[in-house]
Amino acid sequence: MSVMAIVGAQWGDEGKGKVIDELASRADYVVRYQGGGNAGHRVVHGDDEFAFHLVPAGVLHPNVICVIGNGVVVDPRGLLHEMENLRQLGVDLDRIVISERAHVVMPYHFVLDRLEEESRGVEHLGTVMRGIGPAYVDKYSRVGIRMADLLDVDHFRSKLSAVLAQKNRMITQIYGQSALSLEEIHTEYVGYAQRLRAHIRDTESILQKALGERRAILLEGAQGALLDIDFGTYPFVTSSSTVAGNASTGAGLPPRSIDHVLGIYKAYITRVGSGPMPTELFNGEGDALRAAGREFGTTTGRPRRCGWFDAVAGRFVARLNGFDSVAIMKLDVLDSFSAIKICTSYRLNGRELHAPPANHNDLAACEPVYEEWPGWQAPTTDATCWDDLPEKARRYLRRIEALLGTPLALVSVGPGRGKTVHLRELVL
Ligand code: IMP
Repeated sequence: MSVMAIVGAQWGDEGKGKVIDELASRADYVVRYQGGGNAGHRVVHGDDEFAFHLVPAGVLHPNVICVIGNGVVVDPRGLLHEMENLRQLGVDLDRIVISERAHVVMPYHFVLDRLEEESRGVEHLGTVMRGIGPAYVDKYSRVGIRMADLLDVDHFRSKLSAVLAQKNRMITQIYGQSALSLEEIHTEYVGYAQRLRAHIRDTESILQKALGERRAILLEGAQGALLDIDFGTYPFVTSSSTVAGNASTGAGLPPRSIDHVLGIYKAYITRVGSGPMPTELFNGEGDALRAAGREFGTTTGRPRRCGWFDAVAGRFVARLNGFDSVAIMKLDVLDSFSAIKICTSYRLNGRELHAPPANHNDLAACEPVYEEWPGWQAPTTDATCWDDLPEKARRYLRRIEALLGTPLALVSVGPGRGKTVHLRELVL
């Protein structure tokens, strides 16, 4: 096997960073295929903790080539900042390559993300304000600026001048704010391009060559399937396709080159930003999950909304992505609970639903139907194999596995490297 896609199966923040970091020890390439600086992967490494937004989580392994794929939108300032932090930690930055086809997040995207959010009022999406939505809008409107454009100073200037005139009309005439300066942006971004030049490459060829050599390639998803632009809780979603189907397009690899799709779930569920969340807990149990799971955003620091495992959304996502196996993360967060619930269906206007409705008002009106499982009330964090887990924890996990209809490959019992129970070998 050579290519594995790792996909978030909830609303992001499932713990993909940890899984990728562990699997990357056997990988040659780790490739981000969508999203941008809105992502936040927290990886715990000994006493150190690292937060990644754009650089693929495999960067801490000295032999891994980290690719920022064509499907990603890149804020060069944020990326350079992240690279500088990594350099100070002694990480070799030559291993980071960026697709020349990746779109650039420009200053007007940040401004418009904020202005559009403010204009939505109570209907705001709760974006992370990293310009992601406006950058993808420009990509699909065919006025986006790509990494390759930045490298040609005159060509960049003429593209920027045309698009900035349009953006400044929006910023000044619709939102009544000050126009942005062409000169300032041009100078700033030409500077970034100079610093990034050596990293900007034809990454699809690099990856296709690696594929031919049967190298081990991990495709790293950002956010989660419930934030997918098509299948998520639209419009409370991110602006990219987060599901496995986009892993090939966003990396520049053929769809049939993907040998295994691994879905990452938490043993409960969280969400940041707005939008329906049927199993959200507004009581002390939600607070207890937040405290035990340190559920605060890596990118924004916002407290995450917490709830019980939603197997309705979970199974919908497992089927959409065709997961070959799944990981259940943060099991240890549930260690102290005396009872744990799993949502097995939704009730809407007297009907029982087994998949999330497309209309977000309907989803918001869905009541979760729960089954209750006894808590194990014992520490799991030192478990190193399946039999080390308390029997009640094993029963809980087996129930989730059955509801998802997908075999369980690993269970995470703590944030650090090695705090993982493997049920089957993931061949890379
Ligand atoms: P955007 O991606 O900044 O446009 O935000 C759209 C929605 O996706 C908001 O609800 C964000 O909170 C959410 N979101 C974006 N990135 C992440 C992530 O990496 N983890 C969790 N939620 C995210």
